Amino acid sequence: MEINKKEIQYTTYQSIDELDINMQALIEASRQASEQAYAPYSKFKVGAAVLLSNDKIITANNQENASYPEGLCAERVALFYASSQYPKEKIRALAIAGNSNPHTTDNLITPCGGCRQVLAEYESKQQEKIKIFMTGMKGKIMMVDGIDNLLPFRFEL
Ligand code: THU
Repeated sequence: MEINKKEIQYTTYQSIDELDINMQALIEASRQASEQAYAPYSKFKVGAAVLLSNDKIITANNQENASYPEGLCAERVALFYASSQYPKEKIRALAIAGNSNPHTTDNLITPCGGCRQVLAEYESKQQEKIKIFMTGMKGKIMMVDGIDNLLPFRFEL
């Protein structure tokens, strides 16, 4: 028997001002996108912004449904749209922001397990890491460089 350890690494920023202007723009885009989420059931709005290698930013938000499991997270709406429209571009970064209006939260959110698995797939496909910025509507930001830091044991075929 052997007990093994795996390390993950993450960076924290006290505010958006510590980031370069491109990443600031990406985060702001995710925060803005959260405002347009369709989340009548949970009232928890999530925004996502994907930065592609052609410098385009794709934004999306969570889309819920009266048949609850049919809804989809903001991250997957954004990633699937990006991949369907720009299959040859690489995904450089993803920013997400949580927003539980009317009680706006400053707490940062991290992607759910399903979205982590989807991110892992695109990383494998493009053979390049994706930077993931996790935020609330303001305040502290967390960043990981690569999905291994959020999903150390991804499912692979
Ligand atoms: N949600 C996301 O959009 N992304 C996540 O990573 C976690 C959860 C959405 C799903 C649902 O519409 C609402 O947040 C509450 O779970």
